[in-house]
Amino acid sequence: MSTFGHLFRVTTYGESHCASVGCILDGCPPGLQLSATDIQTQLSRRRPGQSNLTTPRDEKDLVYIQSGIEHGVTLGTPIALLVKNEDQRPKDYSETDLYPRPSHADYTYLEKYGIKASSGGGRSSARETIGRVAAGAIAELYLKQVHGVEIVAFVSSVGKINIPASVGGRSASHDENNDDVEDALTPEFRQLLATVTREAVDKQPTRCPHPETAERMTKRIIRAKDAHDSIGGTITCVMRNVPPGLGEPVFDKFEAMLAHAMLSIPATKAFEIGSGFRGTEVPGSKHNDAFVVRPDGRLGTATNWSGGVQGGITNGEDIYVRVGFKSPATISRAQATAQYDGTAGELAARGRHDPCVVPRAVPIVEAMAALVLMDALLIQNARTHTASLLPPITTLPPTMIMPPKLKPAGAAEKQEEA
Ligand SMILES: Cc1cc2nc3c(=O)[nH]c(=O)nc-3n(C[C@H](O)[C@H](O)[C@H](O)COP(=O)(O)O)c2cc1C
Repeated sequence: MSTFGHLFRVTTYGESHCASVGCILDGCPPGLQLSATDIQTQLSRRRPGQSNLTTPRDEKDLVYIQSGIEHGVTLGTPIALLVKNEDQRPKDYSETDLYPRPSHADYTYLEKYGIKASSGGGRSSARETIGRVAAGAIAELYLKQVHGVEIVAFVSSVGKINIPASVGGRSASHDENNDDVEDALTPEFRQLLATVTREAVDKQPTRCPHPETAERMTKRIIRAKDAHDSIGGTITCVMRNVPPGLGEPVFDKFEAMLAHAMLSIPATKAFEIGSGFRGTEVPGSKHNDAFVVRPDGRLGTATNWSGGVQGGITNGEDIYVRVGFKSPATISRAQATAQYDGTAGELAARGRHDPCVVPRAVPIVEAMAALVLMDALLIQNARTHTASLLPPITTLPPTMIMPPKLKPAGAAEKQEEA
């Protein structure tokens, strides 16, 4: 479906070559101050034609606020956001009338709907993600203003080039008898997650915050482009200052919602939270996140293999995820394949395409993280506020409630309004 979220609910619309793309966002709290610039900043980070590493399709992607915001303040009514499709060249796609592009969505869309958009990827195009990024920017604004939440995504690998473990990246340990698997969570990696900023990420056209690695990634993407080919990569995203208690077990656990959100982005093939697949290689004695008392009196964890989520509920630690993007399907190198009618042939796609999607996908990942957080926050606030109206219960055994000494002064109220 084209709608995501329960209480903070975004519906995106649009195809690659129609008049406009955008979204209707329902459930945004009234009274949030925002300007078109707050939305535009993220849209401009997503737009095509940013550098020689992305598609040359030249879209300005200017956002037009249609409803729900007046004098820079949200009204609490549906917010409609529109971005025009301007730089269209439908003729570039004439060969795809004959050929479904290998590993693109042409074949499956036609199978499913029995009809397809006359050119380009139609609804499967990354143009659709404009609506998500616009809505995500609004979610992020609320989260930042009210809770100080920071969401930063960055490119962590392109092809086989990873940020080195010594500066916060991840590398594989090949010693099968060594239980001291440390690198998914090196101090350097935690430091990177704690400090990485969008400014540092945007200094590099690849959006990898480690300059030396970014340089190698650039060369790798150019190599793919020059060979009329493409290459994939991964994006790591950290969410800082997230209140504890978000996530709806059992089916809408926080990590399940994050996985849903991230794997709905076009070209995604993999999702990990916390230690991810590396967590399968580490004994429990090493993998467990022992509890410690934090300076504010609450319990925190000494390590964070869990990635900030336990039992499907946020625990107040940084949440970090990694999302894998495949090499884009549309390549101008000739490929042996079959036409819709079964005739064998060769397709060398024309049109303007990204040789690697990860630099442009960074704000999309951030937007999906913000949408999940905001929706979970509204749901938890509805629960805690509704429960707070009930008379206090004084008859429970003490083991059923959190010991008061672990709550700093004012924590009860703060939690209520988490
Ligand atoms: C930011 C971004 C840009 C993309 N650009 C292209 C592109 O230029 N060419 C292409 O074939 N796919 C591109 N894709 C991926 C396709 O939209 C996607 O692979 C396709 O719809 C098939 O869906 P699937 O890969 O999720 O199965 C892009 C994805 C993102 C997130």
